[in-house]
Amino acid sequence: MSTSSKRIQHPRSVHDFKGRTCSITAVGSYVPSKILTNADLEKLVDTSDEWIQTRTGIRERRIAAPGELTSDMASAAARKAMERAGVTADQIELIIVATITPDMPFPCTACLVQQKIGAKRAAAFDIEAACSGFVCALEIGQQFIMSRTYDTVLVIGAEKLSSIVDWTDRNTCVLFGDGAGAAVLQNRSDSHGLLATTMGADGAKGDLLCMPGGGSKHPATAETVASRLHYLRMDGKETFKHAVNAMNTAAKEVLSKCGLHMSDIKCVIPHQANQRILSAVADRLGALEDQVFMNLQSYGNTSAASVAIALDEVVTRGRIQRGDLLLLLVFGAGFTWGAAVIEW
Ligand code: ACO
Repeated sequence: MSTSSKRIQHPRSVHDFKGRTCSITAVGSYVPSKILTNADLEKLVDTSDEWIQTRTGIRERRIAAPGELTSDMASAAARKAMERAGVTADQIELIIVATITPDMPFPCTACLVQQKIGAKRAAAFDIEAACSGFVCALEIGQQFIMSRTYDTVLVIGAEKLSSIVDWTDRNTCVLFGDGAGAAVLQNRSDSHGLLATTMGADGAKGDLLCMPGGGSKHPATAETVASRLHYLRMDGKETFKHAVNAMNTAAKEVLSKCGLHMSDIKCVIPHQANQRILSAVADRLGALEDQVFMNLQSYGNTSAASVAIALDEVVTRGRIQRGDLLLLLVFGAGFTWGAAVIEW
């Protein structure tokens, strides 16, 4: 058959998107029971509760138990979200895990979660966009639903940052914690779901926040371990500045895509990095204090899990009702950033 006479089939024409909406039908989260307070950190490094609270707003963070893995926390959060959504493991068609602390370089954590929750039919893969990962994963999940590839997708943000934190570095060890959050995405006609997303990246700033060791550039050797290359490193001041600018710009962009103003948003859920970053972003956006959700005082920065855990708390504390508009804001290593507007 000649090329000209061959009838090309387009499996996904734009018309196929009609009648599809991607709803977050339920969320769930899990944090380890072990609490590490600022007072505990005073015994590890030269710091003080007063410094940590005034510079970051963090009072305590959760630390995974020995042997408790990112995939365990992810599975615990997933089970809660699935139970609330009334979805069985058999119904899950795709699992996406956002993480920078996978159980191991491969297989991906999503495959380990698939086995742990018994979602035998599900495809599975990880994405890595550091603290921006959960919003990127939500957008990817929604694309699979809108394209009719899948009807039920599990999106998870999970981190065991305690495994890559240098517990002798006071500049970073006071900031991070462990945990996981999950969302069940489904094609549903009774909600508009994810209305719009925007994402961005600036690879030129990669060195400002990174873990240099363990990849193909610096495979693990006795030397890389001795040089502490397997720990997270951050230029806090630069990261701070870029986080404020990027989240502010992303928020304005995504609101404008939807023709919305800050006053239309019931709740802003920013990446829980630092109280001062959240205040600066809120100021620039003209957001009221009670519009912006903050739980970093209890968990610190949990990277890809942060917005997912916060979203679960916003829902379970009754801060939002179905139909309310939410604004998610993220920023992380890469640098990467993003914003999403959700009709809950
Ligand atoms: N306790 C006591 N003193 C400390 C501590 C500590 N834990 N950490 C740093 N200091 C000292 C520093 O050594 C410095 O001392 P010096 O002036 O004698 O050199 C002084 O405090 C000031 O340090 P700065 O770095 O200027 O402090 P800053 O006000 O910038 O706060 C912080 C630091 C909290 C890290 C802040 O910059 C920040 O939050 N940055 C952004 C983090 C972020 O957003 N990360 C997002 C992404 S995370 C991810 O993707 C994995």
